[in-house]
This record gives sequence, C-alpha cells and structure tokens, in this order.
Amino acid sequence: MNERAVLAYSGGLDTSVAIPYLAETTGAEVIAVAVDVGQGGEDMEAIRKRALACGAVEAELVDARDEFAAVYCLPAVRANALYMDRYPLVSALSRPLIVKHLVAAAAKHGGTIVSHGCTGKGNDQVRFEVGIGSLAPHLKVIAPARDYAWTRDRAIEYAEAKNLPIDVSHRSPYSIDQNLFGRAVETGFLEDIWNGPIEDIYAYTADPASPRDPDEVVITFDQGVPVAIDGETVTPLQAIAELNRRAGAQGVGRIDMVEDRLVGIKSREVYEAPGAIALITAHQELENVTVERDVARFKRSVDQRWGELVYDGLWFSPLKRALDAFLDETQRHVSGEIRMTLHAGRAVVTGRAVVTGRRSEESLYNFDLATYDEGDRFDQSLARGFVELWGLPSRLAAQRDVVK
Ligand code: ARG
Repeated sequence: MNERAVLAYSGGLDTSVAIPYLAETTGAEVIAVAVDVGQGGEDMEAIRKRALACGAVEAELVDARDEFAAVYCLPAVRANALYMDRYPLVSALSRPLIVKHLVAAAAKHGGTIVSHGCTGKGNDQVRFEVGIGSLAPHLKVIAPARDYAWTRDRAIEYAEAKNLPIDVSHRSPYSIDQNLFGRAVETGFLEDIWNGPIEDIYAYTADPASPRDPDEVVITFDQGVPVAIDGETVTPLQAIAELNRRAGAQGVGRIDMVEDRLVGIKSREVYEAPGAIALITAHQELENVTVERDVARFKRSVDQRWGELVYDGLWFSPLKRALDAFLDETQRHVSGEIRMTLHAGRAVVTGRAVVTGRRSEESLYNFDLATYDEGDRFDQSLARGFVELWGLPSRLAAQRDVVK
C-alpha cells in the first residue's frame, strides 16, 4: 500500500499546490483536511471539491467551530491572554486544534506523514510541529513552503503548469489568517512600519471614527465562562460571534503592533478581534471584583506566561497543563455580570491613543529579515532544526506520558 500524507488544507494557492507536489516528491497519497474554525469566506464544500480536483485521494471537512470556541478561545479569555499586552492569540489558538484533527485523520486513514503550508519564518510552523510532536511523535512532518523553499511565483507557475483549479489572478497583497476569534493581516505595505494601516485592510470592524450611537451590552459569566448576553443564554460560539458583531460595529478591537516572533524576527501585524477584546475586558473587570487580592496578583504573572506558552507553540506542554489547573481554580468565584459600553473603538484597553507609524535610530526591526518580498535575507533552512529542538522537552514528556 502507498504511504499516506495528511495535509492541513485551506483551499488557497499554497496548500492546493502542495497536494500534487507532495504526491510527486514522496509518492504518498494525499488526504486533505480542512478545519472550520469560523474563518468564514468560501463555502467549505467548495474547498473540499478543490482538494479532490487537485489530486487528493480523500478530502475531509471538520466543523470545529464549537470546539474551537469552548476549548481554545474561552481558556484564553480565562487567562486574559494578550501577548505583549495586546494580541489575543487568534492564530496561535487555532493551530493546536487543527493539529488535533490532523493527528486524528492520520490515525483514521493510516497516514504516516503530516504536512502544512507554513513558511520557515513564522510561529505557525512551530505550533504545528511541536503540537504534532507532542500528540503523535511517530508522524513525519513535511512543510513544502519551507522544506522545498517554495516562493509565491513558483507556486503560481506550478499551479498553471498542472492546470490546478485555483484563481491566481486577484491575490491579495496581504497575508491574512482569520477565524472566529479574530483576524491577522500582514505583509505588503505594512512591512514598512512607518506606514499607517488603511481602512481597506479591515473586515471584522467598522471605522471607529465614524459617528454612531454607542451600544450597551451586559455579559453574564459563570465561573469565568460567558453564558448570557443581555440576558439571553448563549453557547461559547454564540457569545464570541455575537460580540464580534456588536463590538465590531463600534470599531472595537483593532490592534496595530510590531511583535516579537519566536524565531527572533520582529514583525508588523494588524489584528482585529472585537469579540475577544470585549470578552477579555469584561472578564478582567469581573475578576477585579471577585478574585481575592493575592490570587489576583499572582494570576497576572500566570496569565502572561500562559499567553507566551501558547504563542510559542507549547499548547500541549506540561507547564501549560499545570497553569491550566491553577487558572481553573481561580475561576471558582468569577460569576456575575458586567455592563459595558461599546463605542468609537473603546472597550479596548489600549484603544484610546492609536499609534500609526514608528521609526527609530535604535530600531531592531529589520526589513530584510521581516519581508516576504524580494530581498529576504532570512535563512529558512535553519528553521527545521530549530523547531525540532524547541519541541524536544514537550516531545520527551509526551513520550513518557504515552508509555505510562
Ligand atoms: N503573528 C500572528 C501569530 O504568530 C499571526 C500569524 C498569521 N498571520 C498572518 N497574517 N498570516 O500568531
């Protein structure tokens, strides 16, 4: 029987090209897995059909929206998780969930290879591979974009040569990752960190500066979990979706930042996460009311460490698990209601003064390392070994815990 490769499939150019390319280079049959984490956009059935048209032997759709909300996003709310005091971990939260479903699909279909479309410059390669190393250390990982040094132009050429059913004519100048918890936009003109964002790049939030009436909302929490909005019972998925809508309409949750990636690059990213910011703001305030002083003081450092672990791809690590037990204990009394006004970008902790450009003689932001365009000087071939070592403690712990 042929070897089988399970691919995290988004329906876009890079992962579509990966299907025939993986098959050619490894001789494996490719199984595409598309996970719905509330990214919206294209119809999931169309994505499934495209995977098959690109040569996948099977294509699976997983509707993981409720699971994502309850098991990944709400723990982040519980930890008030804001990496570098701002970023609510949107992409970082979805990766371990996708990993879980990839590993399940590999088990179901007899896969021995897992594959993802990440480059060697970002955090997501680490999150995928360290996650896989923790849950299923026997699986081999191939990341075509990184391991075979694919470029965008080469991917387009290959897609055209193979006649793949992908529309490459109007590709966005940005790299976008979006899900239920928010949206991340980078590259293009944003790589010049003096350039302010333009209204065009936003999709989850209205312009905070347009005149409109404020919106008042009451969120009910039960032990740290949002359970009702304005008195109506909601599921975790409904709570986040509803607050995305209402806070988004008020321009809440826009974040423009230069962030420290795990791989050492400083990168510029613009986020919008209206529901996440509204929920974390409300949750934090309810903790101020209900959590005892010393627990609250200690929890702040746990919150920060928790966010860094998740950002750094260590969702399945022993330390993250131990901190979860602590966080769980702290939520016993975090029940009650918070009334919040959403207006003109407020409800955001940092939303009152908005930075739109930055420059400094002392800057560590290095355009040549950060850019995805011509002139990239980052050596992606270093990433594979780095990721391997970064995940070593998690992998050792996972092996021991599987054996016992
Ligand atoms: N920088 C964010 C993170 O590491 C988002 C990564 C994906 N962003 C993107 N625009 N494709 O979590």
